[in-house]
Amino acid sequence: MAESMLGLKRSHRCTEVTAASIGQKVTVMGWVQKSRNKGGIIFTDLRDRSGILQIIFEESDCGAEAFEKATKLRSEFVIAVVGRVEARLGETNQNLVTGAIEVRAESLRILSESETPPFPIEENSRTKEELRLKYRYLDLRRPDIQRNLILRSKIAILTRQFLAEEGFLEIETPTLIKSTPEGARDYLVPSRVHPGSFYALPQSPQLFKQLLMCSGYDRYFQLARCYRDEDLRADRQPEFTQIDMELSFVDVDDVLDVNERLIHKLFQELLGVDVPLPIPRMTWQEAMDRFGSDKPDLRFGMELVNVSDVVKDVDFIVFRSALENGGTVRGINAEGEGGRPRKKIDALVEYAKGYGAKGLAWLAIHEDGEIKSSFAKFMTPEQTDALVKAMDGKPGDLLLFAADQNKVVWDVLGALRLEIARQRGLLKKDDFRFLWVTEFPLLEYSEEQGRYVAMHHPFTMPMDEDWHLIDSDPGAVRAKAYDIVLNGTELGGGSVRIHQSDIQSKMFEVLGFTPEKAQEQFGFLLEAFRYGVPPHAGLAYGLDRVAMLMAGCDSIREVIAFPKVKDASCLMTEAPTPVDQKQLEELGIRVIEE
Ligand code: AMO
Ligand code: AMP
Repeated sequence: MAESMLGLKRSHRCTEVTAASIGQKVTVMGWVQKSRNKGGIIFTDLRDRSGILQIIFEESDCGAEAFEKATKLRSEFVIAVVGRVEARLGETNQNLVTGAIEVRAESLRILSESETPPFPIEENSRTKEELRLKYRYLDLRRPDIQRNLILRSKIAILTRQFLAEEGFLEIETPTLIKSTPEGARDYLVPSRVHPGSFYALPQSPQLFKQLLMCSGYDRYFQLARCYRDEDLRADRQPEFTQIDMELSFVDVDDVLDVNERLIHKLFQELLGVDVPLPIPRMTWQEAMDRFGSDKPDLRFGMELVNVSDVVKDVDFIVFRSALENGGTVRGINAEGEGGRPRKKIDALVEYAKGYGAKGLAWLAIHEDGEIKSSFAKFMTPEQTDALVKAMDGKPGDLLLFAADQNKVVWDVLGALRLEIARQRGLLKKDDFRFLWVTEFPLLEYSEEQGRYVAMHHPFTMPMDEDWHLIDSDPGAVRAKAYDIVLNGTELGGGSVRIHQSDIQSKMFEVLGFTPEKAQEQFGFLLEAFRYGVPPHAGLAYGLDRVAMLMAGCDSIREVIAFPKVKDASCLMTEAPTPVDQKQLEELGIRVIEE
């Protein structure tokens, strides 16, 4: 029994009907949230993307036929109601925007019936995520997720407006491109016309936006879909959206300036949050030394302290061997955690091991000043005092130390710092602490590949003062690269680009490309650089991450309409799926059975 809406036109969304409409006739349409039959009177909550409006059916107003129909209403039926707006007879419902009014129905049409949904359509659902994603079209009806998608839409629209006003042009770049495997793994698309050849889906518009700079489009932006075949996490999807931009004739400060103003505008207009400008800057080295992370969460302290000098003479083999092997000993002071039961300290040790620690040395200062420690027995009282003093330890504090190569120590303490803050409830979602992390290393040694790889990408400009080290000490060369970090999440990153073909060629050489290989993969870029290329720089945000943090969510899946799960599949459509033999034959592809 699905009726047509012929002759009806929706006059208001649910919450557009306000006290100012009292006495007016309205036509509203939406989904039945719930319907209660109290004998001669039926109360129906009507829902659309704006919210909920109460409808009242009484036979004396709507007639017997409509009343009879109204008795059949169930959750998620789609209906159209014509009625008159009244002040609510009963008590005002403070939980509803429309809590002071109701609509007295004069007619009803059932536009579509619904089966009982597999889970209730309501705010703060406790339904398992797998079920929500299988029926995403139902999940998307829930008010909290609707608010997220509305916010995301506003972020996109405001960004477009702002960048257009700043003189940026929105230009699309292709999504079937040449595979240039540097960075994450590519998603490949087979070519039917060129059997055995493949396109790649872009990991980002990087090369195309640089070519646009060569072509003179001196300020470009795009909301670009990007694809990366990498392990998924809460803040990573195989396809995601970047707010991508590139500017010509600029240096680091120019890029940071326009982006600070963009961020300020988004937070001001959408959240009413006044982000203090300028956003603080910290070099990569300082971020690692103080926070053990290149994306420090500045909502709390608990900074790392290098105690290598303080413990260099102690008789503790763990500390000693780390220092002898060129590592360091660093600690954090978990203030107020000194009374943590032994079991819960052991849990921290296990947590640290998950980040590559061989162990975690701890020292608890009880409220009465008594010290319990996993390693103090190897130290003289003077040495212990000196260590406690270096860590600013007070009664009630717990000191945690990692001894290893820098990278391990940073990872372990950086992760512990976050975990303890999480456990202590120090991570307030409405406290927004932005940070620019600058001067990243240009290169990073990959044990796996046995060579240096680009920390950002191979087109990033080295810092002028470090370039002379490129042969003697490549790991020490810093780059004109920057990340924008918010509350421990990397929101975006970018760099000044290399615009000189000699530096670019040298970069490829350092990255292990032969001139032939560089030519084969990036020949078009190197060639473009021969015809007049402006100095340029840019940045890209993960739009999903921006929306996630602005919406106060823990996962980007909450701000993506149809996200994928951990194994990169879509639970609703069941993609990816095998395809017809015929399709494969056309593409010249044979699948190897495992
Ligand atoms: P980068 O690789 O740092 O830089 O990516 C920029 C931003 O994109 C977001 N991001 C992701 N979001 C969701 N899922 C993913 N799998 C994912 N991967 C990255 C992050 C990240 O900060 N072309 C350069 C930018 C430039 O130099 O201008 C680039 O892509 O928020
Ligand atoms: P052990 O003598 O092996 O019992 O170690 C003494 C303490 O040192 C224990 O608390 C270990 O967890 C800790 N420990 C072991 N390796 C390390 C390390 N690399 N860094 C910090 N502490 C460690």
